[in-house]
Amino acid sequence: MKTNAINRQWLLARRPSGMVRETDFQRVDVALPVANLPAGEILVRNVMLGFDPAQRGWMDDAPGYMPPMEIGVPVRGSAAAWVVASENPDYPVGALVRGLFGWQDYAVANRRDDAPPMRVPAGLSPEQALGLFGGASLTAYIGLLEVGRLREGDRVLVSGAAGAVGSMAVQIARLKGAHVIGIAGGPEKCRWLTAEYGADAAIDYKSENVADRLAALCPQGIDLFFDNVGGAILEAGIANLALFGRIVLCGAISGYNDVTPSPGPRNLMNLVRQRAVMRGFILLDHLDQAPAAMAELGQWVGEGRIRHRDDIQVGFENVPQTFLRLFRGENRGKQLLRIDESQ
Ligand SMILES: NC(=O)c1ccc[n+]([C@@H]2O[C@H](COP(=O)([O-])OP(=O)(O)OC[C@H]3O[C@@H](n4cnc5c(N)ncnc54)[C@H](OP(=O)(O)O)[C@@H]3O)[C@@H](O)[C@H]2O)c1
Repeated sequence: MKTNAINRQWLLARRPSGMVRETDFQRVDVALPVANLPAGEILVRNVMLGFDPAQRGWMDDAPGYMPPMEIGVPVRGSAAAWVVASENPDYPVGALVRGLFGWQDYAVANRRDDAPPMRVPAGLSPEQALGLFGGASLTAYIGLLEVGRLREGDRVLVSGAAGAVGSMAVQIARLKGAHVIGIAGGPEKCRWLTAEYGADAAIDYKSENVADRLAALCPQGIDLFFDNVGGAILEAGIANLALFGRIVLCGAISGYNDVTPSPGPRNLMNLVRQRAVMRGFILLDHLDQAPAAMAELGQWVGEGRIRHRDDIQVGFENVPQTFLRLFRGENRGKQLLRIDESQ
């Protein structure tokens, strides 16, 4: 490690109002975080950043499952990193870890952090740690099986289906014997859903009436709806629920950049008529399930039964624009960024 190294950072310059913009962030150089680490702490060097739509919510000054990000500090976000200095025997120098290390080159981390660093299992690369075996895949697995109580033969609907969480949810549901309809934006993503991820049908919400197509594709109704999008798409799913249907609320990306939340859904009475349940969840509450999920995912991967797509951008200067890709539908799979070309 260079002792005179600088730490490049992207700070939250101001809270976004409406659609997040590159000017909401500020690029600065600072000295390395610490010269002498206190006992228990580690210094990590980020190699790969992972982007999650939830980061947009953390930028608002609003109550949430995590405290709002502070203005003037590096943007909170996940990363895969090498331990470069350690005062903690659980994280030796040279180990690959992942955690919420933020938009910067170096971070000091500690087991006492809200989200403590996790050792990456041997043999996994930084992109596998954040992508195929990262939080999005765990979210899909746990959201479907633990929260949604997926059953063989269920008719399953997944929105945001071509994205990081959604594409895994489609495949896991198929592997567990469900019939799956995916909703995504545009013909290219809809083609992936049926040709690559094995969905039985795909709906392009940008060019089709989702409620009408659902009614035609699945006249018996949807047993389990895994919703990443909210808004009008959630309404269309509620309108097409089967008796005793279940809705798992994973996210609501269609509203993350709204200045004021839209009212709705307008048809909640359909939950009453269909004796349906709707339940939200946050992955962080279910991390005890992560080893079992990783094991089964690993088995499917080893058998070649899971396809995974990472969208890897390159270069620290491109961090904000890479984040914005999520809200423009530009990401082609799990959105990652390799900090330096040479790493
Ligand atoms: N509950 C949890 O613990 C948890 C954990 C991780 C993620 N999540 C949630 O899971 C969802 C998916 O996250 P991800 O990481 O997998 O992202 P992603 O789906 O890989 O990327 C975001 C995608 O959302 C779609 N999108 C963007 N703006 C939209 C809009 N206004 N209306 C409809 N679709 C829009 C775009 O796809 P199209 O081109 O198809 O529009 C875009 O590619 C998010 O809601 C996220 O917050 C929840």
